[in-house]
Amino acid sequence: SASDSFIEALPKAELHVHLEGTLEPALKIVLARRNGHAIQSMTEDDIRAGYVFDDLPSFLALYYEGVELLQTEQDFYDLCYAYLKKVASQNVLYTEMFFDPQLHTRRGIAFETVIKGISRARADAQRDFGIRSQLIMCFIREMSAESADETFTQALPYLSEIIGVGLDSDEKGNPPAKFAHVFRRAREAGLHVTMHCDIDQQNTHEHIRQALEDVGSERLDHGLNVLEKPELLQQARERHIPFTVCPFPNMAIRPGSNEKDIRALLDAGLTITINSDDPGYMQSVYMNEAMKMARDGAALTPEELVTISRNAFNAAWIGAEERRAYL
Ligand code: HPA
Ligand code: ZN
Repeated sequence: SASDSFIEALPKAELHVHLEGTLEPALKIVLARRNGHAIQSMTEDDIRAGYVFDDLPSFLALYYEGVELLQTEQDFYDLCYAYLKKVASQNVLYTEMFFDPQLHTRRGIAFETVIKGISRARADAQRDFGIRSQLIMCFIREMSAESADETFTQALPYLSEIIGVGLDSDEKGNPPAKFAHVFRRAREAGLHVTMHCDIDQQNTHEHIRQALEDVGSERLDHGLNVLEKPELLQQARERHIPFTVCPFPNMAIRPGSNEKDIRALLDAGLTITINSDDPGYMQSVYMNEAMKMARDGAALTPEELVTISRNAFNAAWIGAEERRAYL
């Protein structure tokens, strides 16, 4: 297997991280004091002790509670800058970050507040740490298709700052096809498309099929259930669909997954990347720690980790010149 120092020194790209999920307990306390919220009297350990989940809904309940602490442009700046500073220190050269504007606009925070804070942090972090980042706007799948469409309309003045669209949150009863219209608008506007097909969700195989065949998803976020359907697996392999695999939620939601599934994905000839997902809620497992979890589970060799890292740079939504500079 690869050593810790090999993983730490490896140039890395991240393709699956939710900005709101990078909110660390320490920053929660800062924001709570700043904005006058009750959790300001809690310690970081108190907050962490509440981070118990074993499926997607129980995770989302924690995530939605934390989102409430983000109020001002400066809050979004601090969130994004802290994540970029942290992963730059781990030799992450490039990251594509999901954000969930509807979780903010539905509680009265302007789209502009969210994106301006994030954009300023991206620029400052590139200046201060050299890290390159782009944004993927996710739609909240338990909210309506109309709400997703309204959100896309709100984003129109900022499309130059958004490289793609995604789909996240509660998958049950919310298939990709529900959002066919807004994904078509996004594609016609020249944006890339990805979506979550979370682990072991209801109708997961039909959701994966719709993502690949009906709504133009270029990647699959998680997507592990492809392993159970030979025809989906063959399609994903032939189209070189990148899978954004996240070892921490794998472990939490499907114990044994890193031992079995990562090796199975590689053996099936699929293109995988390793990512953190929501490190603020996942024991601060950022890129280095996520790669070590994958290594420990699947006994990944240095050569395999180089391939996985190159997969991420190859799957990144960047131009040929920038890609050459990384590879
Ligand atoms: N899956 C679905 N929704 C999410 C996730 C995830 O991993 N993280 C934040 N919202
Ligand atoms: Zn995710």
